[in-house]
Amino acid sequence: MKPQPRSSPSSTKALRTVSIIGTGSYVPEKILTNADLSRMVNTSDDWITTRTGIKERRIAAKNENTSDMATKAAMKAIEQAKISPKEINLILVATATPDMLFPATACFVQKKIGATNAACLDISAACAGFLFGLEIAQQFITSHTYDTVLVIGADKLTSITNWTDRNTCVLFGDGAGAAVLRHRGSAHGVITTHIGSDGRYTDILFMPGGGTHCPITRENADLHLQTIHMTGKEVYKQAVTAMLKAAEKVLEQAGLSIEDIACVIPHQANLRIIHAIAERLGVSRDKMFVNLDRYGNTSAAAVAIALDEANRTGRIKPGDYVLMVVFGGGLTWASTILEW
Ligand code: ACO
Repeated sequence: MKPQPRSSPSSTKALRTVSIIGTGSYVPEKILTNADLSRMVNTSDDWITTRTGIKERRIAAKNENTSDMATKAAMKAIEQAKISPKEINLILVATATPDMLFPATACFVQKKIGATNAACLDISAACAGFLFGLEIAQQFITSHTYDTVLVIGADKLTSITNWTDRNTCVLFGDGAGAAVLRHRGSAHGVITTHIGSDGRYTDILFMPGGGTHCPITRENADLHLQTIHMTGKEVYKQAVTAMLKAAEKVLEQAGLSIEDIACVIPHQANLRIIHAIAERLGVSRDKMFVNLDRYGNTSAAAVAIALDEANRTGRIKPGDYVLMVVFGGGLTWASTILEW
């Protein structure tokens, strides 16, 4: 029996299923290789490859904003979905690097794609943001509040990277991915999603400067406070534990076992994290979708780009069960099961 969407005791109408009817992605043209980085800081291709699996990453142009990348990914998803931007009721942009603190990056995207009938908001859940967006979209569509939701994960992490810190600057890249969600007859798409957070760990992956805690001043800029700060080893441990638990939780919610899953799309942060999760879940490595060798960690964009690539290359096929699982600063984590 196919898994059913979660029921809500307060709903009067039957809950609707939710499908992903289009995906899109965009990465900037400029490539920064490990060899390039080894000329900037004391590192090597060998260290980066063996510790992370990353070979190269994309770097957005100076005048290329998060909303520009988000717009390009969104237009591809809209084109594949064969809808008009005017049919979109809600735009959600998951990002840790908005164009401005306000207005929301989603509003800039709205203007650029002409989605004049949409409400717009940003989601701050770091690398887990795209799946937080899928969950919010799912709730609005199943409850009949909205028919069509555009979810985007987009980040320009290289704009908050400390290029003198070899511990972090080798890890990140820029990009955007998008999905259009809608109820589509009897088809099942997003079966169930799980999201979670643990605010006790706000100090292991964060950007201290730029908010009310530490406003922008020349001194703070000199101290690199408007860049990513990370305790890599602790993040690594927490990532493996949280992603494993999140994957198990969503499988249980869906009433599926790991053997039912055709493809796992994990957050693209570190190949060692992906292999550790595969081993603990009991999944062969070839079921794990990996593109971090080409893009590095693009934060909220990572699984959105991966989903689009898996879709467009035929790596996931109609009827496949797909498990997506992510982890980010906050801490935040999320998992979802799709029937493609
Ligand atoms: N090149 C060469 N040496 C380096 C580099 C580098 N780029 N970076 C660190 N080192 C050195 C360190 O200085 C250290 O040297 P020391 O022993 O002389 O002090 C040594 O390598 C080992 O450093 P560790 O930090 O112990 O290396 P580790 O094996 O833990 O790998 C890494 C570091 C890759 C960062 C790993 O901990 C990791 O992937 N953590 C998770 C990161 C992550 O997923 N972050 C994103 C989360 S998602 C989000 O919200 C953005």
